[in-house]
Amino acid sequence: MKRIILLGPQGCGKGTQAKFISEKYEIPHISTGDIFRYNIKNKTELGVEALKYINDGNLVPDDLTNRIVEDRLKQEDCVNGFILDGFPRTIPQADALREMTDIDYVVLIEIPDEDVIFRLEGRRMCSGENCKDLIYNINTSPKPQNEGVCDRCGRGLYQRDDDKVEAIRKRLQEYHEKTSPLIDYYGDKVISIDGTKDIEEVTKDIFDKLD
Ligand code: AP5
Repeated sequence: MKRIILLGPQGCGKGTQAKFISEKYEIPHISTGDIFRYNIKNKTELGVEALKYINDGNLVPDDLTNRIVEDRLKQEDCVNGFILDGFPRTIPQADALREMTDIDYVVLIEIPDEDVIFRLEGRRMCSGENCKDLIYNINTSPKPQNEGVCDRCGRGLYQRDDDKVEAIRKRLQEYHEKTSPLIDYYGDKVISIDGTKDIEEVTKDIFDKLD
C-alpha cells in the first residue's frame, strides 16, 4: 500500500514528481491546487469560492478543502494508495486527514526560498485539457521546444495568476507559518529529499526511498 503525502514549499517539484510516482506505482495523483483551478476555470460554486483566496496567495479555508479531499479519497481508484499533493497544508487539515485514512509515507522535498521564486516565475502551463500533467519552466527545466508553445498539443502556454512575485511571497509566508509545522507533526514518517538536484535525480532519490 502506498498512501503518500508530498510535502514541501511551493515550486519544490511536488507536481513534477507526483506525475512520475503516479505512473510508477499506478496510484492517483490528487492535487488540491489542480482541483481548485479546474473549478475556477469551469466557474463552479467551489471555484468562485476558491478564487477569493488563491490568486492572492492565501489558503482556501480548511473545512472546504477537507470536504473535497474526503470525497476524493472515497473514490475507487484510491484503494491501493494515492499521492496527496498540496494537502494537508495546516495542522487542522492533518487532523482531519487522520480521521479519513492512514498514511504510509510523507515525502518532504526541500529547496531554499530563493529557488522557489526563481522557479515559479519561470513556470508555464499548457491551457489544453489533456496536458494538465505537463509543467514547463523557462528559467530551469523542462523548457518548451518552441517558446510559449506546448510540445504536446501546440497550444499557447500561460503563467498561473499566483505565480506573480507578490503572490509567491505570500504563499511562501503561508508555507513557513502554517505548513512547515507538519514536518514535526509527521515526525518519523518524513523522508527528506534534496529538491535542488535535477528533476531525474530527485525522482531517483524518491523511488529509492519508496522502493
Ligand atoms: P498548489 O497548486 O498546490 O500550489 P503550491 O503548493 O503552491 O505548489 P506549486 O504547484 O506552486 O509547486 P510544486 O511543488 O507542485 O512545483 P512544480 O512541480 O510545479 O496550490 C495553489 C493554491 O491553491 C494555494 O496557494 C492555495 O491557495 C490553494 N490550496 C491548495 N491546496 C490547499 C490546501 N490544502 N489548503 C488550502 N488551500 C489550498 O515545480 C515548479 C517549477 O519548477 C516547474 O516549472 C518545474 O518545471 C520546475 N522544477 C521542478 N522540479 C525542478 C528541479 N528539480 N529543478 C529545476 N526545476 C524544477
